[in-house]
Amino acid sequence: MDNIKNKVIVITGASSGMGAATARKLAQLGAKVVLAARREDQLKALVSELGDNAIYVLTDVSKKADLDNLVQQAIGRFGQVDVFWNNAGIMPISFFEEGLVDEWDKMIDINIKGVLYGINAVLPHMLERGQGHILATSSVGGLKTSPGIGVYSGTKFAVRAIMDTLREEVAQTIKVTTIFPGATQSELGHDITSPKIKAIYGNLTNMPKMDEEAIANAVIYAISQPDNITINDLVLRPLGQTR
Ligand SMILES: NC(=O)c1ccc[n+]([C@@H]2O[C@H](COP(=O)([O-])OP(=O)(O)OC[C@H]3O[C@@H](n4cnc5c(N)ncnc54)[C@H](OP(=O)(O)O)[C@@H]3O)[C@@H](O)[C@H]2O)c1
Repeated sequence: MDNIKNKVIVITGASSGMGAATARKLAQLGAKVVLAARREDQLKALVSELGDNAIYVLTDVSKKADLDNLVQQAIGRFGQVDVFWNNAGIMPISFFEEGLVDEWDKMIDINIKGVLYGINAVLPHMLERGQGHILATSSVGGLKTSPGIGVYSGTKFAVRAIMDTLREEVAQTIKVTTIFPGATQSELGHDITSPKIKAIYGNLTNMPKMDEEAIANAVIYAISQPDNITINDLVLRPLGQTR
């Protein structure tokens, strides 16, 4: 884990869930963490818990200027960005017949455009330095579709395609890692409004879920590799998850 110490690691979606859990672990390992999300109270509390090697930057990943500012703030405070994890995402899932188009738009703006804006903001800096590591959180829904998750799944297939192509373009110098989590404990889905999905989820309360630490451990595994090794894809499911 020596090569995590002093790395400057930017995490979007760091105010809760797997982003926050990973930030905690990375800070314990001596990384400098830059936490990005919209909810200031959560970010402030996490930074005060983590101490001097953590800062937060209020960021809405659906806004290009916010991602540009995030990278500038990270460089301003810590001098460079070694690792950038595009992790922010939302999952207000529904069936197509319900026509919740505003929620489709939000998922596209946050889950797809957010990742593109993150890559756009940090890539020139990493190319100039001739090194760096970009990660993104897709989902097992980015590998396989199922009824009720069409738009979410579409955004996560897009993340996979974007990251695969990025890897093909920059593999000489930049590490590119896509994480594909299965069901994980977090706040994800708190914004589901679809009555049909709520009815189904009511029947799935006992579905197996990983804790956020499982994702933190996977991300740390990817980041802690030697300079000449790049972990491309990591798929994690809780035991018992079949889809
Ligand atoms: N939990 C699962 O079962 C699961 C499975 C597969 C993939 N994933 C993916 O894992 C990632 C992290 O989710 P999680 O499970 O940890 O859920 P979570 O606890 O809901 O975390 C989502 C994070 O994204 C941030 N976010 C949402 N919209 C944003 C925006 N417009 N700008 C900036 N930040 C935004 C949230 O912060 P603010 O609200 O403060 O902005 C929060 O920090 C997501 O991409 C999700 O799709 C989760």
